[in-house]
Amino acid sequence: MPRFDPQPERRPAVVTGASSGIGAETARVLARAGHPVVLGARRVEVCDAVADEIRAAGGEAAALHVDLADPASIEHFAAEAERAFGPAEVLVSNAARIEPGSALETEPADFEDVLRVNVGGAHRLVRAFGAGMVAPSGRAGAWPAIPPSCAPKASRSPSPTRWLPRAAHT
Ligand SMILES: NC(=O)c1ccc[n+]([C@@H]2O[C@H](COP(=O)([O-])OP(=O)(O)OC[C@H]3O[C@@H](n4cnc5c(N)ncnc54)[C@H](OP(=O)(O)O)[C@@H]3O)[C@@H](O)[C@H]2O)c1
Repeated sequence: MPRFDPQPERRPAVVTGASSGIGAETARVLARAGHPVVLGARRVEVCDAVADEIRAAGGEAAALHVDLADPASIEHFAAEAERAFGPAEVLVSNAARIEPGSALETEPADFEDVLRVNVGGAHRLVRAFGAGMVAPSGRAGAWPAIPPSCAPKASRSPSPTRWLPRAAHT
């Protein structure tokens, strides 16, 4: 059963790619809305500066290093984030390598690196934080794959978890 019923008062949030652009601003907005926020990126010193700014404005924030190309770094980040503020209630998987260029301009090795961060890293991140959000018993095996045919129904449903496999509810 999801632990969002009712929603807890304190809802720790995690934002990756918080050293720049959309991620940094998302962290500020979440903090202003009352969420304790963990800011993650490789340039942890930049995240630290944003976290200082949030704390100076009365919010709660912690800056942690994470490299989405490195599975061990993601696991460490998830453990440290939980140590900082408790289990995350909100995950903003924002970090990405953005390298525009046509197929002919892009080296295959660079393209594979982008996939490793933007796809593989995001997937590992969601697994590291998401399992605890839907399966408080810790049974990661209950983490559901939503068939494409169910996803539109689930997004429109007032009770989205109804569309998840039974194992995810128990
Ligand atoms: N800006 C747009 O117009 C736009 C439009 C559509 C979608 N988006 C998406 O929105 C997101 C943010 O965009 P943005 O414009 O704010 O990008 P940005 O300023 O370039 O920020 C990218 C962030 O990702 C982090 N990052 C990159 N590689 C990483 C890695 N290996 N591990 C951990 N963090 C990593 C960077 O931090 P470090 O370098 O410190 O690690 C940085 O904080 C991206 O996912 C982008 O694809 C943006």
